Amino acid sequence: MKKCLFFFLLLVCFRFVSFADEGMWLPQLLEQLNEKRMKSLGMKISAKDIYNVNKGSLKDAIVSFGGFCTGEVISDQGLVLTNHHCGFASIQSHSTIDNNLLRDGFWAKNLGMELPNPDLFVTFIVRIDDVTKAILTNVTDNMSEREKQKTIAKNMDALKKATPVESYQDILIRAFFDGNQYYRFITETYKDVRLVGAPPSSIGNFGKDTDNWTWPRHTGDFSMFRIYADKNNKPAGYSPDNVPYKPKKSLTISLKGTKENDFTMIFGFPGRTQEYLPAIAVEEIVNSSDPIKIDIRTNALGIMDKYMRSDEGIKIQYAKKYASIANAWKKWQGEVLGLTKTDGVGKKKKYEAEFLKLLNTNPTLKSKYQHVLPEITEAYKEIKPYNYAKDVYIETTGKIELYSLINRINALRIERDKKEKGRYSEKLINEINQLPDFFKDYNKQVDKDLFAAMMQMYVEKNDPAFVSPQILERVKTFNYDYKKWAEDVYAKSAFVNREQVMNLLKNNPDELYNLAATDVMGQIVSECGSFYNKNVKVNGDRLQEKINDLQRSYMQAQMAVMKSKTFYPDANSTLRVAYGNVKGFYPADGKYYYPFTYLDGVMEKYVPGDYEFDVPQKLRELYKAKDYGQYSVNGKVPVCFIASNHTTGGNSGSPALDANGNLIGLNFDRAWEGTMSDINYDPSICRNIMVDIRYVLFIVDKFAGAKNLIDEMKMVR
Ligand code: ARG
Ligand code: GLU
Repeated sequence: MKKCLFFFLLLVCFRFVSFADEGMWLPQLLEQLNEKRMKSLGMKISAKDIYNVNKGSLKDAIVSFGGFCTGEVISDQGLVLTNHHCGFASIQSHSTIDNNLLRDGFWAKNLGMELPNPDLFVTFIVRIDDVTKAILTNVTDNMSEREKQKTIAKNMDALKKATPVESYQDILIRAFFDGNQYYRFITETYKDVRLVGAPPSSIGNFGKDTDNWTWPRHTGDFSMFRIYADKNNKPAGYSPDNVPYKPKKSLTISLKGTKENDFTMIFGFPGRTQEYLPAIAVEEIVNSSDPIKIDIRTNALGIMDKYMRSDEGIKIQYAKKYASIANAWKKWQGEVLGLTKTDGVGKKKKYEAEFLKLLNTNPTLKSKYQHVLPEITEAYKEIKPYNYAKDVYIETTGKIELYSLINRINALRIERDKKEKGRYSEKLINEINQLPDFFKDYNKQVDKDLFAAMMQMYVEKNDPAFVSPQILERVKTFNYDYKKWAEDVYAKSAFVNREQVMNLLKNNPDELYNLAATDVMGQIVSECGSFYNKNVKVNGDRLQEKINDLQRSYMQAQMAVMKSKTFYPDANSTLRVAYGNVKGFYPADGKYYYPFTYLDGVMEKYVPGDYEFDVPQKLRELYKAKDYGQYSVNGKVPVCFIASNHTTGGNSGSPALDANGNLIGLNFDRAWEGTMSDINYDPSICRNIMVDIRYVLFIVDKFAGAKNLIDEMKMVR
């Protein structure tokens, strides 16, 4: 009997161990909340090795890269590793037709060849402290949401003033758990970050949009930068006198690789998740919000694709815009699929039933929170039509480039008319510098077609009550022939004329603002926009404020009632740790995905000359000669792998670390089937995708011959 029990327990434990953990955890709380569990999953280091304010720890090697991605320091000379798609804008900015770094790659042979990037920065986290008490002082339950936010802003200001920092440090205070907790971050931001290396797009973005969000994957999605500091190793703007930054900590690279079920963790800056929504909100995402956004984008992408396929110039102009519209479009489809397949709404309903059952056993909590779920459900019902109209408005008008251009010009006018004039001239100069890029990638024909299609969707997909009557009048004049209407608008609008717009902006911006008011597209923007603001936005914002307030109470209630659950805060672009195991999965009946891919797979996908699946000649030669150096296992070069780490957008470029805290890979994506992890993580299908560090090094060393970089790194075998 005892023996049976023992084996039963063992079985239970193993099941547990092999199942990965959901969550994006705060590094300073790992010791308290997660260390035991992490060790049981195989971690060999301690929580203190990950986060320690008293001595160098892993966190000192992690940076927020430009505020939108993650990077990590991999040498004692400030070398930073991130994704190719994170470095994309920098790589592109140094590219010309004759010196196309995006297409051909780039490798600085010495420090002098590294390329500065004026807009790029990296931010280190020095320390994180709980400041909930100070921030919520004088915030009371009976205040309106607006009063609460005002008090909170005041408290934040006061706390910032009272926090001593060095001249080169910043203070950041962020809300967690929907505003139930607050943390203060002391940060150091380095603004001289130079491009060191990038593979050609045919490696760094191999498989492009077809492979995006999918497994099995074969992309070498990495690029390298270097942080420069002043003579005292402190942050400084770009200067030729700056020197490579000496980090408190740089990551050690392991060439050992992983086996299935091995422990891994991801350390980085996940952007946004919504794990604690009520069922009705998830239902709205699955049935309303995602579908309408997908529908509109399908239409827009179809138009762009048609032109991109038939015209090489348009392909270059629209590649980046297409990729960014397609990225979320594809993710949302995976999200709907995953939420449907795993019954995300049903799971939430069950959770709510459980919550209510427990709530009802505790009279104090019951009287405090019983109103929350019914009220928030009601508020979501109320906001639904406004959210839908908002999605329609933003998704349709946002795809019309002339519409966005006029919005940019109008924003300048608004800035000019503000009382404090300080920022106007700065913004004007910015636009003067940036508009040529807009026009460089602007094609009137494509935009005209987009206008016709998007305005038709704006009218036809919308609830009639939310369509601007003036816009409807205009369409009627053209007998509902949207193409004809578009012909007319694009023949008459002055804003398609690059010379005129640029000249006026430089020499007489006031006249350009006046022109925006009388121009036909300017009028369309103003009619559509002001109707939206008055009839949709005002109501939507008011209801959203109410929902935010209720969501804070609901979050509080969940944490008070669901005692057996350990809560992690939703992602909010702050530093987090996710942990799990290397693991394959069953994406569909009869299908199993192994967790590793190899260079052989790159060659299997190779399509000579193809826009997405071409393979550089040098890589084909290395493959043929099996010239793999120290980067192969059993005669194969590992390329990518997946694990059950809970990640999201912003985790791109995050280091994948092994049980010893050594760098084994670089996070860059998630598997399509599990992208609903932003709302509802499911261990059976949620996987993050990483490029194996050995593929990165193989490309740097054997493909690019950049031995100078390899020599900087610390490796263990
Ligand atoms: N899906 C990844 C992310 O969300 C990669 C995007 C860049 N790659 C691409 N093929 N568009 O950012
Ligand atoms: N590619 C995403 C990024 O840029 C990571 C993928 C995800 O959403 O998990 O952050």
